[in-house]
Amino acid sequence: MPSCAAFSPVRLALFSSLIMTALPAAATSAGKAPQDPPTQSLMQQIFTPLSRVLPLSFDQTAFESAKNHDSISKDLKTLMDNSANLEAHARKKDRAFDYIAKSLRSDSTHAYRRFQRGDYEESRFALHNLTENCVACHESLPETHKVPPADGLFAALKVDQLHPLEKAHYYVISRQFDDALKIYEDYFSSGSVPIGSLGMLGSFTDYLKIAANAKADLQRPKQLIDRILARPDLPTHVRSQMQSWKQSLAELEAEGAVNKSDLATARKVLNQGRERMEFPRDRNGTIHYVTAAAILNRFIHNNPRANLEAAEAYYLLGITESLLAHSYWISKEEFDFETAIRLAPGSAFAPKAYSLLEESYTVGFSGSSGTHIPADVKALLADLRKLIDDAQKNPKS
Ligand code: HEC
Repeated sequence: MPSCAAFSPVRLALFSSLIMTALPAAATSAGKAPQDPPTQSLMQQIFTPLSRVLPLSFDQTAFESAKNHDSISKDLKTLMDNSANLEAHARKKDRAFDYIAKSLRSDSTHAYRRFQRGDYEESRFALHNLTENCVACHESLPETHKVPPADGLFAALKVDQLHPLEKAHYYVISRQFDDALKIYEDYFSSGSVPIGSLGMLGSFTDYLKIAANAKADLQRPKQLIDRILARPDLPTHVRSQMQSWKQSLAELEAEGAVNKSDLATARKVLNQGRERMEFPRDRNGTIHYVTAAAILNRFIHNNPRANLEAAEAYYLLGITESLLAHSYWISKEEFDFETAIRLAPGSAFAPKAYSLLEESYTVGFSGSSGTHIPADVKALLADLRKLIDDAQKNPKS
């Protein structure tokens, strides 16, 4: 569960005024996923109030001042209302899209209600975390067209003064994928990255996700890895990790896997990743899992039906999420496993999805004082268990 942790000093040092630049209407471009004008328009309606209120939220005095109260309140309300519109729109989409849209609506409602109640610290906290929803959705789907840079937002956030990883975060929420990748690449090959743990950084996985999902491009990670391998100060364990990933990239490239969107390729790539692992916490499978997730995200998005194949896709996606996820805000693997079970409780993989889900909740609700699974989660698990038991007792076909 998220706790009200302190904001980073870089974030707090931000400035509060903002010059908004309206984003021009979508331009078409070749070689990308088809554009979705209704989603684009909803996104603009979410982005505009967020662009005004987010920079203010980094300055505690500005956020709490009576002078700004009405405009902040109005923007937070618009953000909440438009997130509710996105949620309504998302019901026509696949369940993963719907899930993240729901999470955005819930976080924006939280930010607004807390602000109304005068609970400014909590409101700011919710506001900062809700941008994780933007990232989760944007980094799971292909780029559709080049979105003009949100210069006004970047200026107000003083993005140039941020840590590179924070900078990359804001580039992803405004869908500047090429710029985000470049920021990550410069950082990972710079002297300021903690080189000894480079292969273990969650941000490295985020980088790979954008390359594979948004850009379907494994060339860039390969070039980055070459840059890293050229460093004279590379510790041996990082060198061997990078060499292993380089082989994975070559293997996947030879198969053209990153451009596929079918279940058979996803299964195959996931198995190849498993075979690369020599011990449980081994990260040699990462490139394969990221690629499998990209294929599965596309499969689910392109086939928003509720059938056995979709159920299996969620199950496999849950496995990749459990191996790759590191956002403490949205835990999508639990949603994936639950969806897999609900869509196909009688399937061979449903009991496995259940075990993984139960394990994930047990780990999630365990601390130094033991395991305290909340009553609603216990009820959910019992409900899913019953679905599986009933379906396995009375097979339909
Ligand atoms: C549930 C999924 C989802 C969530 C959550 C989401 N987005 Fe998006 N967003 C998309 C998709 C899909 C597109 C691409 C639509 C297209 O180009 O057809 C998009 C496009 C955009 C665009 C470009 C619009 C244009 O005119 O082309 C902006 C800006 C944007 N999103 C900002 C945000 C911000 C900021 C947030 C978080 C507050 C956010 N999005 C949350 C799915 C999402």
